[in-house]
Amino acid sequence: MIESVKILTNSLRIKFKGETIENFPNIWLRDHAKDEQNWDRRSHQRKTNTGCLDLDIKIKQAKLKNEGQHIEILWSDMTNVVSYSSEYLLKHLLCKNRKDFKFRLWKKYQIKEDIFLSYKDIMRENGFKFFLEKIYKFGFCVITNCETNLKAVETIANKIGYVRQSIFGGLWEFESNQDKADSAYTQEELKPHTDATYSNDAPGLQLLLCCDYKAKGGESILVDGFKIAQNLKKNDKDLFDFLSSVEVPGKYIGDGVILEAKRPIFKLDNNELIQVSFNNYDRTEFRLDELQTLKFYEGIKKINNLINKPEYQWRHVLNPGQLLIFNNWRILHGRSSFKGKRKMAGCYINMEDFMSACRVNGIS
Ligand SMILES: [Fe+2]
Repeated sequence: MIESVKILTNSLRIKFKGETIENFPNIWLRDHAKDEQNWDRRSHQRKTNTGCLDLDIKIKQAKLKNEGQHIEILWSDMTNVVSYSSEYLLKHLLCKNRKDFKFRLWKKYQIKEDIFLSYKDIMRENGFKFFLEKIYKFGFCVITNCETNLKAVETIANKIGYVRQSIFGGLWEFESNQDKADSAYTQEELKPHTDATYSNDAPGLQLLLCCDYKAKGGESILVDGFKIAQNLKKNDKDLFDFLSSVEVPGKYIGDGVILEAKRPIFKLDNNELIQVSFNNYDRTEFRLDELQTLKFYEGIKKINNLINKPEYQWRHVLNPGQLLIFNNWRILHGRSSFKGKRKMAGCYINMEDFMSACRVNGIS
């Protein structure tokens, strides 16, 4: 709700109910006019040619409507008024208060049984929203009672977005396989890592369905990378800042491709952590000066210590019919060693498609 507005030379000062006051520059407001003349409602695209707007554009009149639910603005270059809702303006505040922050950073003890959802439930409309919300908040969940075939993986993937094609194909099945180049096919322990540090657009979600398990060991291990980041930032801000600025390269060679990409272990956007990338298996050569080199390896050591602490590791042996789904931009995954037969199926989904599904369901 808007309490009052004041027209300034090149901006509009808006006082919202509560304490929030913000100046919205005229040119920004004019560029975001969503009336019929300036906006195509069918395609959700701008009609205005922004480059032709006067940077010094003026507001002739600004009136509150519907008890502050809207402002109507008369622009110096238009004859009709343009309406802006208070909800729209609040959504685009520069200094958002982050009460709506929905991530729940976790340690092992904070993960409860409700992380398990049944296949039947997530296929229902309300259940599906609840399922997406769970992944959004905690970074993962386990779907139980799935059929043990690729079709089950595909059905879940298509409900969220679509199956991503990668060097491993779209949908994949594997048992331990010595012929493949990737460490994921061994029976050895896999330390917590994120997948595809060698890809500029690492997969957003990974789905892993247990199809057969006649083995000993093979616990799936998950670690909340955002929690690790929070810990490091709190206890060694200098090191955290360093690790969020140094770009670390990852490389994949095999199956006729050489893929390489680089980004910081903690990738920030406007000071907000958006992605954790940590894969000691796939890191390739890069040089820093001597002091920075030492600092980088100190960082690796600290992260390695944290992600291997039992208090940060959620562990679970997937049984046939259980599908683990996790956010690969946040959750590090690993697997303890095993002996015997373990057959898995899975796929990746792009981050942008997961985020789209969240927006469509009013989650993010
Ligand atoms: Fe992996």
